[in-house]
Amino acid sequence: MPSLLTIDDLDDETLRHLVRRGAAFSAGASAPDALADKLIGIYFRKTSTRTRTAFTAGAVRLGAKIITYGPNDLQENTGETAEDTAAVLSGMLDVLVARTAGPQAELEAYAAQGRMAVVNAMSADEHPTQALTDLTTLHRRFGDVDGLRVLYVGEGNNTASALALALSRFRGAELHLRTPYGYGLHPRFLHAAELRAKHAGGTVVERHDMRDLPGVDVVYTSRWQTTGTSKPDPDWRTTFAPFQVTEAVLGDAAVFMHDLPAHRGEEVTAEVLDGARSIAFAQAENKYHSARAVLEWCAA
Ligand code: CP
Repeated sequence: MPSLLTIDDLDDETLRHLVRRGAAFSAGASAPDALADKLIGIYFRKTSTRTRTAFTAGAVRLGAKIITYGPNDLQENTGETAEDTAAVLSGMLDVLVARTAGPQAELEAYAAQGRMAVVNAMSADEHPTQALTDLTTLHRRFGDVDGLRVLYVGEGNNTASALALALSRFRGAELHLRTPYGYGLHPRFLHAAELRAKHAGGTVVERHDMRDLPGVDVVYTSRWQTTGTSKPDPDWRTTFAPFQVTEAVLGDAAVFMHDLPAHRGEEVTAEVLDGARSIAFAQAENKYHSARAVLEWCAA
């Protein structure tokens, strides 16, 4: 059973397949019985509106049955290991969709059993199903992802890491990251994305200021307070303030994207988020379409 713990679990062909398939679902395709005999566990230890609903709705719409677990439901709370938990669940479930918001090693422990597919619905390091949603949204809006120019403004969080790892694999794509100093992309992800972009004839470049913004097709931002995290510096808002997406930052870009939830007046103005060029809510709906593509791939 293939798992999706990181974008790096997908070869180029599978990555492109999942983006195209998500876009096809978004355009109206359906597969009501694709997972008719499957049982899918939905395990969220942290809050979620989009991802949890997308995978739950996606599983049900593909004909699967689901079991849901909240933060207080499994014996992990009383000290059972991730390995033992997965050894037990894999004898009963076909797929486990898990939001831990914790270290990647925990998801790797879930996946090590090899019988049950595991989908990372957001860890501390990476949010791969968000990146697939984002590329699906770009594919729907522009017809292709190759060659697109994206400006990402804000914290180099798990959404940004996954976006960098995924977008850098598309031919000629550009990702310009503008992150507050001290809140950039983890060097491991930045270097990997830079190398991939070079190989694909594109660009990944990070700066810690908002001067000389490049002309782009898409401006993307993310909430300053990423789910499950806090910032030790009490003055962090001062550091982040110049990185708000305004109409001036949006410039001539065709569209604005946001992984949501949003805080109007912090990372983005209401004028931009609710404006004519914002596709943030279509992007949120694409989480459901992309979830169906992921579940079909790993469980069918
Ligand atoms: N973007 C995102 O992951 O949203 P939720 O936290 O609501 O799932």
